[in-house]
Order: sequence, then C-alpha cells, then structure tokens
Amino acid sequence: MSGEESASATWHSVVDCSAVDSGEAYGAEINGQQIVIFHTEEGFFCTGNLCTHGEAMLSDGLLDGCIVECPLHFSQFDVRTGEALSSPAFIPVSSYPTRIVDEKVEILMPS
Ligand code: FES
Repeated sequence: MSGEESASATWHSVVDCSAVDSGEAYGAEINGQQIVIFHTEEGFFCTGNLCTHGEAMLSDGLLDGCIVECPLHFSQFDVRTGEALSSPAFIPVSSYPTRIVDEKVEILMPS
C-alpha cells in the first residue's frame, strides 16, 4: 500500500487519456461527488469540480498551465493541490491522487 492509499479509499477509472486534450478539463460524477480531471503539461490532476466560493464548475473555467480560473468570479486554484491562490475563494477544493492504467485516468477517492 502506498503512502497515498488507505484501506478506505478506492481507485476509480474516470476517462480515457485520449479523450482529454492537453490544456482541457473533463468533469464527471464519481460516488456522488462532482470531480474534474485536468490534463496539464505536468500530467493529469483531479480536484473537486465545484468552486468553494459559489455555484460554478471549474471544468468550465480557463486552464493555464496548472492553474484553473473559476468562470464566475475568477478565483484561481492550483490543480495539483487544490489550493486557492486568489480571492474571493480562499478554501481549497478537494484534491485526489491520479494514475494512468491501460490508457485510462484513475482517481483515488475515499470509499
Ligand atoms: S464562484 Fe468561483 S470565485 Fe466565485
């Protein structure tokens, strides 16, 4: 078991790697949670999709490198960590480990 895994977390296959172009985002619902996969030059990252400031989906935002900008009030989040980098949001979005298995992006979520 790696340091990122625990007995109460499960890997979920989300999307084919080829279905998400570099610089694009892919929103999905896993276990009732809205999540988004970002394809960056550093690889695939996953965070919660709902902005922590309001009712906006980060999958609709602008991805620049590893920073996504909320489409509603333009807070920026680091997609690698979920950290909120600029106001009005200050609470981070959830961040989920990713891996590639058989050309699909998988994410590790609490069960
Ligand atoms: S809803 Fe995202 S910054 Fe306000």
